[in-house]
Amino acid sequence: MKEKLTKEFIKIFGEGETTAFFSPGRVNLIGEHTDYNGGHVFPCALTIGTYAIARKRTDNKLKFYSMNFESVGVIETLLDEIVYKKENQWANYPMGVLKVLMGKGFVINSGMEIMLFGNIPNSSGLSSSASIEVLTAFIAKTFFGLTLDLVEIAKLTQKAENEFIGVNCGIMDQFAIAMGKKNHAIFLDTADLSFEYAPIELEGAKVVIVSSNKKRGLGDSKYNERRSECEAALAELQTVCKINALGDLTEAEFEANKHVIGDECRIRRAKHAVYENVRTVRAVEALKKNDIALFGELMNASHRSLRDDYEVTGIELDTLVETAWDQPGVIGSRMTGAGFGGCTVSLVKEEYIPSFIENVGKIYKEKIGYAADFYVVEIGDGPCVL
Ligand code: GLA
Repeated sequence: MKEKLTKEFIKIFGEGETTAFFSPGRVNLIGEHTDYNGGHVFPCALTIGTYAIARKRTDNKLKFYSMNFESVGVIETLLDEIVYKKENQWANYPMGVLKVLMGKGFVINSGMEIMLFGNIPNSSGLSSSASIEVLTAFIAKTFFGLTLDLVEIAKLTQKAENEFIGVNCGIMDQFAIAMGKKNHAIFLDTADLSFEYAPIELEGAKVVIVSSNKKRGLGDSKYNERRSECEAALAELQTVCKINALGDLTEAEFEANKHVIGDECRIRRAKHAVYENVRTVRAVEALKKNDIALFGELMNASHRSLRDDYEVTGIELDTLVETAWDQPGVIGSRMTGAGFGGCTVSLVKEEYIPSFIENVGKIYKEKIGYAADFYVVEIGDGPCVL
């Protein structure tokens, strides 16, 4: 891979020394839409992700090229002229990260040429954008000797997504990618960023990701809307409960106080945030006791809550998950990521994976009219120099 990509880089930018990097994508096993509600999440990094070939320049020009968007060509700017521009398309992600790093006082004293190649499906909900963001910070750290640990990289790249891109995301994606560990998921408490690695041993089952191939489209504005609904519900609950976030409530405390939320829809949004947080804690306990069946049931319950109370699924994701539930060998299945399209994650016993792919693929295509893509994935490490 490295040799192939380096050749391509030289074709675009010319001869010279280069360095190769990799940053993973991520999948969240459970704990959805809890990270901006002070709750728990349980994601893991993948062995698929984004590769970069890069080098420093002697002037202050930044040049970006992606093999995934060849027709866009090379996108350029100057280090001291970085501004968000729609026409910069995907390059807004690395630009935003560099701008945030410099804004925090990190010295980036020359331009760079950066070529990317990603093998995560775009807009699939496997965090191709967070993968690029973490990768960019990691390249800058390596080239300019920035004293920046991986947790800070997660925080600063989230800031770039929030402030430069304008998506009010939580910390989950950037944290899962920066802190990824082979064969482990990360049990992260987003209230204080304390975390624990949990080994993923699934007794003959594998993690299967299915991409609905429905692009997220309006997803980002809907995402911000859900976040505001939770903030409004929190403010109402704070009139009667001493809490900092919805993740501070037990299910019983929520039930006893939900009447102060003045709107039926907001009650359901807050209910999801509270119950999903509790489910995530329970799911990790189940995994520790090797109760994979219970882990799977909690995944299924997570999907129902995202479908009925949080309303972020849609016909494509529901078809994939509900069809998966009917298949033999499926331990659990749910949508993953922000929703509104994107991917599902399922735990499937190895011997049933071929029939799972065939049956779910066939029913999805018949009902939705286009095909889904299947990925049997491995859990990998965080960013690295190759
Ligand atoms: C997106 C966001 C994350 C998280 C998930 C939903 O992936 O980037 O911060 O909120 O949606 O769990």
